[in-house]
Amino acid sequence: MANVIYGSDIAKQVKKDLRLRIMKLKNEQKRLPKLVVVLVGEHPASVSYVKGKEKACHEIGMENDLILLPATTSEDELLQIIHQLNTDTKVDGILVQLPLPAHMDEHVILHAIDPKKDVDGFHPVNVGKMLLQEPTFLSCTPKGIIRMLEEIGMTDLSGKQAVVLGRSNIVGKPVAQLLLNHNATVTICHSKTEDIKSITKRADILVVSVGKARLVKRDWVKPGAVVIDVGINRDDQNKLCGDVDFANVSEVAGYITPVPKGVGPMTIAMLLENTLQSYEQREH
Ligand code: GUN
Repeated sequence: MANVIYGSDIAKQVKKDLRLRIMKLKNEQKRLPKLVVVLVGEHPASVSYVKGKEKACHEIGMENDLILLPATTSEDELLQIIHQLNTDTKVDGILVQLPLPAHMDEHVILHAIDPKKDVDGFHPVNVGKMLLQEPTFLSCTPKGIIRMLEEIGMTDLSGKQAVVLGRSNIVGKPVAQLLLNHNATVTICHSKTEDIKSITKRADILVVSVGKARLVKRDWVKPGAVVIDVGINRDDQNKLCGDVDFANVSEVAGYITPVPKGVGPMTIAMLLENTLQSYEQREH
């Protein structure tokens, strides 16, 4: 049976460390790091993610603002708010929750965020720096996945075959790039890939981010592989589940992440870490 990698436990440790660093700033009567989250509309999953981020800030003593805007907000209004946050010296991190309403151009919005406050790592400047392995903000979910691999002793991925299912800008593409930066041999599969199973079966590390409940079964997985499940879905019984059939794949994998308590908590912990990184860069 596979070892379960509890992201929730690793995230707890990361948050404990961040909390101590913030307590120290408090004791020294310094300005405290601040994250501002902007949510446009009431996309149900987004509302729940944003609440999770707010709670996590609270837990570690980080300042935070949540700006809730109606779905009818115009692109210009949002751009104006972003501009104010860019120039506010008390704000270290700006996160605009995705997806945005259809009348907004995601690219225009993400371009408008000051790259120095882009704690999501979605600005093209930061994406480019990640590609070139220059210091930057790494996107939270990919960064959290790499941290989980490090936690099980997989730091140098030389000689390892990594397969990523999904090619989104938020997860698939950046996680593939980070795995490559760590010397893995990387294959990306997506909806147009033929015979996906023959490719996933070769993977020493399999990262799944496709948004299809329990898609990956045990016959997709190489015995002993590390399986990282990024999916958050509801099944027919409205039960939370990942993109990987956990019970089934656990029988063959070496390591597996659960849903919930897997990648999700790591994403939030990395967001907090990036915000403290921004604070430290801006204060020095
Ligand atoms: N929507 C789903 N995941 C994310 C994320 O990591 N950041 C933002 N801004 N929106 C998201």
